[in-house]
Amino acid sequence: MISKKIEKLLNQQIAMESDSSQFYLAMASWAERSGYNGVSAFLYRHSDEERQHMLKLIKFVNERGGVSQLPALKSPPVNFKNVNEVFEQLLKHEVKVSNEINKLVDNCLAEKDYTTHNFLQWYVSEQIEEERLARNLLDKLNLIGGDKGGMYLFDRDLETMIPEGEN
Ligand code: FEO
Repeated sequence: MISKKIEKLLNQQIAMESDSSQFYLAMASWAERSGYNGVSAFLYRHSDEERQHMLKLIKFVNERGGVSQLPALKSPPVNFKNVNEVFEQLLKHEVKVSNEINKLVDNCLAEKDYTTHNFLQWYVSEQIEEERLARNLLDKLNLIGGDKGGMYLFDRDLETMIPEGEN
């Protein structure tokens, strides 16, 4: 059974994963409209994964005798300046998510909730991978600069890339 405090924090994390999914969906849609089919496919997959992160949390809260709460959907931005801005925002967002996961892990230890602590280790690893991949993609974009051929190849590479950078 989870405490009310941990339940509340897990529900906040559910909201955050839902926001991530919406945010990346907006990015995917922008990329699709802008002719970046590979970037768009990658971001659509990323959005789906964030939804899975949310579902995993919902199921965990329910299994532990808590009550999961679904948040209201926030309306994300419609337009982005360019692909660099998309990945800069994505990395910034993932760093924010990692900080929240870390706080949640701290609270589990303070509450001696070792079950939730154990459950959250998957999220800790996932965040490391997601941040690593986002930094890697930004490095590539900085190397490409304004080179159209480089951008074409970047877009093509993302067509099949898995958002957490593994597999
Ligand atoms: Fe589920 Fe990328 O945070």
